[in-house]
Amino acid sequence: MIPLPLARIAEITSGALTGMADPRAVVRGPVVIDSRAVEPGSLFVAIKGARVDGHDYAAQAIRAGAVAVLATRPVEGPAVIVPDAAAALAELATAQAAALSKVTVIGVTGSAGKTSTKDLLARLTARVGPTIAPVGSFNNELGHPLTVLRADLDTRFMVLELAARNIGHIKALTRIAPPQIGVVLNVGTAHLGVFGGKEAIAKAKGELVEALPRTGVAVLNADDPLVRAMASRTDARVTFFGRGESASIRAEGVTVDARGRASFTLRTPSGSAPVSLQLYGEHAVDNALAAAAAGYELGLPVATIAAELSQATPLSRWRMEVTDRADGVTVVNDAYNANPDSMRAAFAAFEVLGRGRRRFAVIAALRELGEEGPALNAELGRLAGGSGLAGLIVAGPDAGPVLEGARSAAAEAQAAAQAALDAQAAAQAAAGVPQAPVPHQDAPQGWHGPSPDQGWRGPAQDQGWHGPAQDQGWHGPSPEQGTPQPGWQAPGAGGVPPQGWQAPPAGGPVPGAPPGAGAAYPAQAMRIVHVPDAEAAAAELAGWLRPGDAVLVKGPRAMGLERTAELVLGGAAQ
Ligand SMILES: Nc1ncnc2c1ncn2[C@@H]1O[C@H](COP(=O)(O)OP(=O)(O)OP(=O)(O)O)[C@@H](O)[C@H]1O
Ligand SMILES: [Mg+2]
Repeated sequence: MIPLPLARIAEITSGALTGMADPRAVVRGPVVIDSRAVEPGSLFVAIKGARVDGHDYAAQAIRAGAVAVLATRPVEGPAVIVPDAAAALAELATAQAAALSKVTVIGVTGSAGKTSTKDLLARLTARVGPTIAPVGSFNNELGHPLTVLRADLDTRFMVLELAARNIGHIKALTRIAPPQIGVVLNVGTAHLGVFGGKEAIAKAKGELVEALPRTGVAVLNADDPLVRAMASRTDARVTFFGRGESASIRAEGVTVDARGRASFTLRTPSGSAPVSLQLYGEHAVDNALAAAAAGYELGLPVATIAAELSQATPLSRWRMEVTDRADGVTVVNDAYNANPDSMRAAFAAFEVLGRGRRRFAVIAALRELGEEGPALNAELGRLAGGSGLAGLIVAGPDAGPVLEGARSAAAEAQAAAQAALDAQAAAQAAAGVPQAPVPHQDAPQGWHGPSPDQGWRGPAQDQGWHGPAQDQGWHGPSPEQGTPQPGWQAPGAGGVPPQGWQAPPAGGPVPGAPPGAGAAYPAQAMRIVHVPDAEAAAAELAGWLRPGDAVLVKGPRAMGLERTAELVLGGAAQ
């Protein structure tokens, strides 16, 4: 930050010095709200939260070297007393930003991808000059001014993430550090409940481009109609990015490798260059294009933009983090947060990455979706249930709609697959090929399962017991999928298969099937299990996973499902 004496801080915030604060004592930063982050020269801002009151940590902050505390009541030690600490923080940041005349401020907003795009763009601006960007997702009324206050006289760029939880929020953030470039990624369904509709979300996000001066640039996603329409809400010049011809900064010939990483040709009005992203998921293309468009407007050469984008690796944690375990199990940790759009993006990426492998997913019900919550969660369940997984774990509360959607989509997918197998078998029979018995009509002999009301438990619940792979042409019925078919025997309790039980040979036919028959295996069933939390999800998965499998872990922030991924990867924080 630009150093400020306490007297000046009191003046900017209309505050009063107490606790023998020396008006000449200079705050050199950082300005922090977490007492553990205090350094000598800091200003500690005491925020009263729902659980913790920063005022209780004032003395500790002073001991750690804070010059003073910005507080709403006198504390032990020097303080600037203001009526509202968050408002005072914003006033301080506003005053500092106004003093930074050489800084270009770039704001990034959208429903999904702000942090990812901000990280890419900060990489590009850093090629031109010293850049300040928030760590992680500092994008609200506290994180935003704290980030702005990190800038100093050397700073040339501020790449800021602006989040809206309601109409007027982004407008307020743009007043702190008025942007010259505004990037709008997409209008999705995040926080739908608070806003009450996508149009209201578009109205809120558009406040970013409304704040741009005539000399500024609005960088808009041409592929999102609600973002495209924001062109009429700004005085600034408009640059479109996207996949189609109408976008001046666009991706052509997008291909995705076996791990789900995209390559494309970056086209701009002044040339093209090849980009090969190291970021996972095709949605990264849109974020890369948004960053490229802003970089282009800043005068960066296309080759430089393409090279930087190609070198970028995920900077902020738990967004499409892909890790391979020693045994070949691949874990996709996208657990930072989730909304309907990012869920779709994650499942699309996971389908590519997990192609040809047994795939499992751990998800949780989405939140903050208002009245549409149950319907959108049922839709999420259908997405998961219809995506060809071998197993799905739904963690946490309010899982009902997700489970219902998943079960119905999984049952439909299984029925469709069975119908296809039956048709294939019929065609082979007509051609004179010997047939395996079709299990739901002609169950294999010698398999006896107790009825479900006698405590039948399928493999999914039997930790430690490993049934044959579902993708090896044989499967046990899932406990969540209703009555076991006659002729199936669940493994014995305690994880040990009953005496005389024999796993069918891997890749082999249904027990009892005549040799040579291949087409009439039962279609795969998806295991669907509900668990209370991230730890239980990891415990359940441990019983399911085998070398070479792939797992997607994704849920809303409050579920903390990154813990599941960490436990699956070996227990340590990754
Ligand atoms: N363009 C995109 N479209 C859909 N999903 C995306 C996109 N970019 C990122 N995601 C996914 O959305 C989630 C959040 O990504 P990111 O943190 O970049 O977004 P954000 O807008 O900053 O989110 P938040 O509002 O929580 O700060 C991640 O799971 C990520 O994989
Ligand atoms: Mg973010």
